[in-house]
Amino acid sequence: MMSTDVSLKLDTQYIFHPKLGPHGLTQEQIGELEPRVGKILQEIAEERARGEHGFRELPHKKPQLDEIKQMVAELHDFAENLLVLGIGGSALGNIALQTALNPSTYNLMPRTLRGGPRLFVLDNIDPVHFEAVMQVIGDDWSETLVNVITKSGETAETSAQFLIVRDRLIHALGKDEFMNNLIVTTDTEKGTMRGIAEREGYRSLIMPDDVGGRFSVLSSVGLFSALMCGIDIDELLAGAAEMDQVVSDPNPLTNPAARIAMIHYLYDQSGKPMHVMMPYSQQLRDLADWYRQLWAESLGKIRGNDNENVGPTPIKALGATDQHSQLQLYREGPNDKVFTLLEVGEFECDSIIPQAFEDVETLNYLGRSSEGTLGGLLAAEKKATQLALRESQRPSLTIHFPEVNARTVGEFIYLYESVIPIMGKLYDINPYDQPAVELGKQLTFHFMGLKDYEEPPIDIDD
Ligand code: PA5
Repeated sequence: MMSTDVSLKLDTQYIFHPKLGPHGLTQEQIGELEPRVGKILQEIAEERARGEHGFRELPHKKPQLDEIKQMVAELHDFAENLLVLGIGGSALGNIALQTALNPSTYNLMPRTLRGGPRLFVLDNIDPVHFEAVMQVIGDDWSETLVNVITKSGETAETSAQFLIVRDRLIHALGKDEFMNNLIVTTDTEKGTMRGIAEREGYRSLIMPDDVGGRFSVLSSVGLFSALMCGIDIDELLAGAAEMDQVVSDPNPLTNPAARIAMIHYLYDQSGKPMHVMMPYSQQLRDLADWYRQLWAESLGKIRGNDNENVGPTPIKALGATDQHSQLQLYREGPNDKVFTLLEVGEFECDSIIPQAFEDVETLNYLGRSSEGTLGGLLAAEKKATQLALRESQRPSLTIHFPEVNARTVGEFIYLYESVIPIMGKLYDINPYDQPAVELGKQLTFHFMGLKDYEEPPIDIDD
C-alpha cells in the first residue's frame, strides 16, 4: 500500500499469489534486487539535488503558473475553439487530461455547460482528419485560439499544421490581427518557433529546458489547455506534489515507484517483456496512451555498454471493452505479459440497471444484483478478469483510484514518470533521449526536400 498521504493505492497481491506458480514473483526476488534499487533511489536523490530529473520539480516550482492563469483569464471568454497543434509529448498529456477530467462528450455540450472552449488536439497529420476539424471551425477564425506546442520547433508534423493554420488565420483575420489568436509553447531561447513567435508577435509560453516532451504534461504544455477547459490545475499539481513525497521514500520496499519498477524489471528479465495497462474506466483510457509513449520512448534503447536491445513493451487496453477483444490472447496466448489494471472506487455518477423480465434470468439478474449499476458491473468485471488472469497464472497489479479527479490524476502522472528513471538505471540506459526516432525524421526531411538533406542518410535504393 502507498502512504495514506496519497489517494492512489497500489495492490500487488496478484504478483505474489501462490496460484501464479512459477509466474509469480517471490519476496526473495524482490529482496535480492532491493539493495541495488536502494542505491538507485539514493543516486536519483543526489542527481535531483544537482538539478537533474527536471520533471520532478514541476509541481513545486510551477514554472509560469501565474502567466498561464493570466493568459487563460484573458482568453477564456472569447475562445469558442482551442486548437492544439503538437505531437508525442506535446499532445498526449493534453489529450489524457481532457478525457480524464472533462466529460467524454465535452465538445458536444453547449458552451454554458462546458464552461470552456471546445478542444481539438491535432496530434496527427492525416489530411482527412485535419480537414474535418477545419470544417468544424469554419471560415470565421475570430473565436478560435491556436496553441502550437513544440519544444524543438522543428517537428515536421507540427510545423506543417502550423503553416496551414497560420495561413488560414491570416486569410480570415488579416495580417495585422491573426497573431492575437496564436500562442506558441516552445523552448526558452533555442528553436525555430521561439524566433517566429518573436518575429510575428505571438503570445508564448515556455517549455522548461530541463524537461523532455513526454515528461512535460505538468508544465505549460499540458496546463494551458487544461485550464482553458476548466480543469483544476492547482489540484493536479497538488496531487503530483503529494506523490513526490511518497516516491522520494528511500526504501524500495515502501516506495511505490520503486516497487513498480522492480516488478516490471524482474518480469522482463524472466520472460515477460510485455506490459498491458488496462484501465477499467473510459476516463483513464488516454492516460494509458500517455503512459505507453512515456514507457516506450524512455525505455526502449540500445544499452551502451553491451549493445543489448532492452526495454519492456507497453500495451494499452481498456476494460471492459477489450475483454471481448484481447482477453482470449491474454489468458491463453504466450504467458509473456504482466498486467496493470486501473480501477475506480467511486465513479462521478452511476446508472442503475432496472429490474425487468422476471422470467428471463439472463437479463433479470443484472437489475436484481446489489451491484446493479453500470459502475458495479464494471467493478465486478475487473475483479472477475483479474481472478481469471490469476487462474491462467498471469500476474497483475492494481492501481486503485478512489475517484478520478485532478488530484488523483496528478498523482498517477507523477508516479509513472517517477518509475522511469529507476527503470532507466536498472536497464543502464538514458531514459531521457530518443535517438532511434532521428533516422525516420531525417529520411522525411530528405523526401520533403529540406536543404542539407539532399543526400539520404542511408541507402534507399532497394
Ligand atoms: O517525448 C518527446 O521528446 C517526443 O515525443 C516529443 O514530444 C515529440 O517528438 C514532439 O517534439 P517537439 O515538442 O519538439 O515538437
